[in-house]
Amino acid sequence: MKEFFIVGNWKLNKTISESTQFVKNLMPLLTQGTSRCGIAAPFTALESLVKESKGTDLLIGSQNVSDQKDGAYTGEISAEMIKDVGAGFALIGHSERRQFYHESDELLGKKIKRALMGGLIPILCIGESLEQKQANEVISVLENQLDKALGALNQDEMSSICIAYEPVWAIGTGHAATPADVQKTHKIIRDFLARKWGEKVCYHLKILYGGSVKPDNIRELLSQPDIDGALIGGASLEVESFAKMVNIAREI
Ligand code: 13P
Repeated sequence: MKEFFIVGNWKLNKTISESTQFVKNLMPLLTQGTSRCGIAAPFTALESLVKESKGTDLLIGSQNVSDQKDGAYTGEISAEMIKDVGAGFALIGHSERRQFYHESDELLGKKIKRALMGGLIPILCIGESLEQKQANEVISVLENQLDKALGALNQDEMSSICIAYEPVWAIGTGHAATPADVQKTHKIIRDFLARKWGEKVCYHLKILYGGSVKPDNIRELLSQPDIDGALIGGASLEVESFAKMVNIAREI
């Protein structure tokens, strides 16, 4: 049975009490299985979520992390601080951070290093815009994003990261990429990484897909050989739909 990783990205949603209530409601709905699930929550809810999910297999992570360890960086949160509250992973380079907060691939490379040094699993998000897709630049855009953000990592570090492929045009639009197209792209990503870091590391590396994943399309997406999980925005905010998607992953 394949071990998928199903991650909800709550973005700028949910207070502490809404977050903990979500986990209380979620746990009884989940079936047993090897596939893991996680929630990337706002910083403010991390500690309470970690406490609420203690003893379960739900992983809690952040949606961002600083590229700095400590010092005079007002407003930043370090990997060590995220680890300190018990969270286990961090999204890095989500397209909304690239677009609205101008995070560059070089900055993301530093964040990945920091996350690894702080003991977090980084989930690097990559993806092309609609204009780049229409200009047939998908492969070069993705390879460039991977190269710049991961170029400084050694094989060991590569075995501790995840990738999330999220085409920008599919996020929040209701128009997911087709399973066949995602499969093709994930294979290109995996082959590219294998050429750089070796097949052994890259064939075990998890590549998640994100962009309008819902209970009614997740099964077909996860049935593709190179799709190892999903990063889910809108449909992860409702406990029933998130539970349904995790349970589908545990059935396949
Ligand atoms: P949606 O699932 O709402 O399209 O969002 C995807 C996403 O951005 C997850 O990180």
